[in-house]
Amino acid sequence: MGTRPRVVLGVGGGIAAYKACEVLRGLTESGHDVRVVPTAAALKFVGAATFEALSGHPVHTDVFTAVPEVQHVRVGQEADLVLVVPATADLLAKAAHGVADDLLTNTLLTARCPVAFFPAMHTEMWEHPATRDNVALLRSRGVVVTEPDSGRLTGKDTGKGRLADPREIVDLARLLLARSDALPRDLEGVRVVVSAGGTREPLDPVRFLGNRSSGKQGYALARVAAQRGAEVTLVAAHTAALPAPAGVRVVSVSTAAELQTAVEDVAVDADVVVMAAAVADFRPAERAEHKIKKQDDDSAPTVLLARNPDILAGLVQRRRPGQLLVGFAAETGDEHGSVLDHGRVKLKRKGVDLLVLNAVGEGRAFEVDENTGWLLTSSGLEQRIPLGAKSELAATVWDAVAELVRAGERRQ
Ligand code: CTP
Repeated sequence: MGTRPRVVLGVGGGIAAYKACEVLRGLTESGHDVRVVPTAAALKFVGAATFEALSGHPVHTDVFTAVPEVQHVRVGQEADLVLVVPATADLLAKAAHGVADDLLTNTLLTARCPVAFFPAMHTEMWEHPATRDNVALLRSRGVVVTEPDSGRLTGKDTGKGRLADPREIVDLARLLLARSDALPRDLEGVRVVVSAGGTREPLDPVRFLGNRSSGKQGYALARVAAQRGAEVTLVAAHTAALPAPAGVRVVSVSTAAELQTAVEDVAVDADVVVMAAAVADFRPAERAEHKIKKQDDDSAPTVLLARNPDILAGLVQRRRPGQLLVGFAAETGDEHGSVLDHGRVKLKRKGVDLLVLNAVGEGRAFEVDENTGWLLTSSGLEQRIPLGAKSELAATVWDAVAELVRAGERRQ
């Protein structure tokens, strides 16, 4: 895209409208040209001046402003992506049935680009058969209607219907701009386990052996799987900085042993297990009960290490028929072979169905937002994954998994 991607941010009339401001900020800061189109009800929650100041564009709700510019058609036609944040039950109903009674609903009818709704409403409204039918109808037309999160709602209520975290919305928006077909509902009914983050192996109550994994790749995998319809459990080790993906059950762990217990517990019922976590291969053989003190003679303690179990190898041994296992490998090329050579060997040795091979070193893969590598399958497929957002890599992995799930179903 030569020019700045043009995003229309529709804002519905719900209390979560204030979070649309954060989405707007996230998108403009990452170089997107954002036009905000609120409903009249949205402006009861957030003033037009806020949207105008943050977007740098005038804000209208009706089709009778700037009539010579034919806004009710133009705004939709010129967009590269339309987002609706928050999508109320009312807006979903209008969009499903083609009602066009203000600028936003007109824009939804004229848009030819990807359209994504991010719902927020009370649980009763989200679960109402009318809303379920409207969501199903929109999805059957290829419109993205994301899963809301569970948690605190307006007032004292908690339940499903909370707006996804604004950072997650920005990430999914960027994914759809890069690949409009990244979020099909092709994992519905598939039970997925993803491990993410880096384990910490305690030395004493304050020190640990750790690694540089941020958990971003595992979170992107969980997020994209959930939005493709999968039932996802995320086993997360030290990922506090990341927003929990909407609609995903998160189990927090710390050490490799805890990660092993948590993953094995949920893997029993899973159709797919993705081991994206950086699991420590070694742990201090002993954990000191008290903080290890410096000695007067300037000597330093010797730390003995013990081997941790290979969790993925255990999963491969106990795998259920039809269960798919996905491993990650972080490699550098050396005198024994290239990154790809090492990956091929590891794919065979690990016995997994899919191996995501990352080239690491020189600032690549760890703690950054982008990733690149290869996707290797046990059937011999080798797909180069171009440098892109971790969500894009996640979408490539789920494309391959969905294909294998479909092939498995055909065989049954
Ligand atoms: N893994 C695991 N348990 C461990 C270590 C790693 O389940 N104790 C998983 C990782 O989550 C990843 C895959 O195994 O999916 C590959 O990890 P990696 O450390 O690259 O492979 P190793 O088999 O440890 O090989 P190496 O000798 O290169 O370290």
